[in-house]
Amino acid sequence: MKQRPRRFICLLLLSAVLLLLLSGCGGGGNDDDDADVGAEATAEAARTLFAEKGCAECHGPDGEGDGQNPRTVIKDTRMIIQQFQQRVRNGRGSAMPAFTPEQISDEEIIQLHDWLKVQR
Ligand code: HEC
Repeated sequence: MKQRPRRFICLLLLSAVLLLLLSGCGGGGNDDDDADVGAEATAEAARTLFAEKGCAECHGPDGEGDGQNPRTVIKDTRMIIQQFQQRVRNGRGSAMPAFTPEQISDEEIIQLHDWLKVQR
C-alpha cells in the first residue's frame, strides 16, 4: 500500500523529464526561420514609416524613385548615414523638403537608412 504514491510520483517525474526532452528537441533548428521573420517585420515597419512620413510619395513605396527624376531613386543607397541624415535634415534642391526633428526623429532616419541600403 505504501508503494503506490511513490510509483505515482515516479511516473509524474518521468513524464516531466520526457516533456522537457521533447520540447528541448523541438526548439532547435528553427533559429533561421525566426531571424527571417524578425527581418521581415523590421523591413515592413520601415516601409510603413517611409509611407507615413511622405517619403514614398516622391521616392516610391520602396525607394525605387518616382519614375521620372532619377535622383529620387534612393533604394540600395551607397550614402553613409551622416550624408543621408544631412539630406533629410537640410533638404536638397527645390524638390526635396527639409525635415525637422519634430517631423522625423534621428532614430527614424537611421531606421529608414538601414532599410534603404539593403533594398534592391
Ligand atoms: C516632395 C517630394 C519629396 C519628399 C516628400 C521627400 N523627398 Fe527626398 N528627394 C526628393 C527629390 C526630388 C530629391 C532629389 C534632389 C536632387 O538632388 O535634385 C530627393 C533626394 C533625397 C535624398 C538624396 C539622394 C541622393 O542620392 O542625393 C535622400 C537621402 C532623400 N531624398 C530622402 C528622403 C526621405 C528619407 C524622405 C522622407 C522623410 C524624403 N526624402 C522625402 C523629393 C522628395
